[in-house]
Amino acid sequence: MEKFRIIGGNRLCGQVDISGAKNAAVAVLPATVLIDGVCRIENIPNIADVTNTLKILKYLGSKVRYINKNTVEIDNRNIFGYIVPHDLARHMRASYYFIGALLSRFGIARVSMPGGCNFGVRPIDQHIKGFNALGATVSPMENGMIEVVANRLVGNSIYLDIVSVGATVNAMLCAVKSRGFTIIENAAKEPHIVDLANFLNSAGADIRGAGTDVIKVRGVDHLYGTTYSIIPDQIEAGTYMAAAAATGGDVLIRNVIPKHLESITAKLQEMGVYIEEYDDSIRVCRPEPLIHCNVKTMPHPGFPTDMQPQISVLLSIAKGTSILTESVWDNRFRYVDELRRMGVQVQVDGKVAVFQGVDYLTGAPVKATDLRGGIAMVIAALAARGKTEIEDIQHIERGYENIVDKLAQLGGDICRIVVSDSVAVRAL
Ligand code: EPZ
Repeated sequence: MEKFRIIGGNRLCGQVDISGAKNAAVAVLPATVLIDGVCRIENIPNIADVTNTLKILKYLGSKVRYINKNTVEIDNRNIFGYIVPHDLARHMRASYYFIGALLSRFGIARVSMPGGCNFGVRPIDQHIKGFNALGATVSPMENGMIEVVANRLVGNSIYLDIVSVGATVNAMLCAVKSRGFTIIENAAKEPHIVDLANFLNSAGADIRGAGTDVIKVRGVDHLYGTTYSIIPDQIEAGTYMAAAAATGGDVLIRNVIPKHLESITAKLQEMGVYIEEYDDSIRVCRPEPLIHCNVKTMPHPGFPTDMQPQISVLLSIAKGTSILTESVWDNRFRYVDELRRMGVQVQVDGKVAVFQGVDYLTGAPVKATDLRGGIAMVIAALAARGKTEIEDIQHIERGYENIVDKLAQLGGDICRIVVSDSVAVRAL
């Protein structure tokens, strides 16, 4: 077991390169199952969620070969498996993309209900609505598995009752090789939805409208091997923006698509952060104290829920009262109990958190409760006075490539320690 040890107070300054998008990679990799050929996927982030997705592919019979740290070649011509067992599915939510992909390839998928961050109930009724609409039958099995079967997937109209990233991805995966025409209405518009559509189109699919709330898919018989580069990670970029702002720093964040960051940029500017946009980089500088503001998370293009914990750190040190409303997940404030240990003044009532800005945070032993809650601890620790040790960093490493090196390169005092060392140090 390892922890992060962070001594706060250093301004983050310099340049950092953003990796490929986690939530695009974990959709594109299962989508390769649909392809009779060899795919070369570039700009793959080197994170635990990708490693786990590749483990599932190998289990199903894919040949997976790393060309370099961020490029992987996947040959699914001889893939044979259609079962994803619990041990492989439990680590991440996105394992449910294998349902759509395997159903499309084999007409059958048996997949264990997925794991991932705990934000309360995470239903998959909208995924099932999509499978049913295209002619599949969904049956619960023993041991938390579900079986989805179809003799032939046939295009249809799918109206999602809730804007769901996962249900939109699964509907696209099913529709892409089904017979005829599918229309997905009230679709999610996140950048990773567009990236998945672009990837599939580069392999011969016919998907239009991704990035709007109506996606039209004309089924094709075959998809062919392709080379594709994953988009930069919007949330990793936003996280470094928040870290620069929290520490009063000045950071040039490279390899980003500034358009994907607009809602984050707008909020930071409202808080008094200075931002300059370039073609594929963004400079974030915070010379003055932060100004309080209100934030509400929304599906894209609104303020992303996956940036909610990171912005909460800024609200906690912005002078005055700020209100943060979570409108996507029922229970995404579990991490604030840990932030309170660092001096954050916050009251949570259901999906609303009210922050009373404090002059400074103080280091404390804390735990990462989930991926984004965990990275919020890192940002708070970098901005705080004194030493913080963060446990359960495996949550953070699911989604952030090289986090220690990237922050250290910006001047953050952060290192990884093994738990037994820290016990010894504390005992002294
Ligand atoms: C994706 O999760 C992301 N994960 C999440 O990012 C992100 O928080 C979320 O989208 C929202 O942007 C991946 O892309 C792998 P949803 P997903 O289906 O697809 C409800 C991170 O930190 N819902 O868009 O699982 C659901 O309960 C992770 O990187 C239903 O009611 O989210 C939620 O309230 C965490 N029925 C809302 O919709 C369904 O069938 C949005 O969920 C499906 C979802």
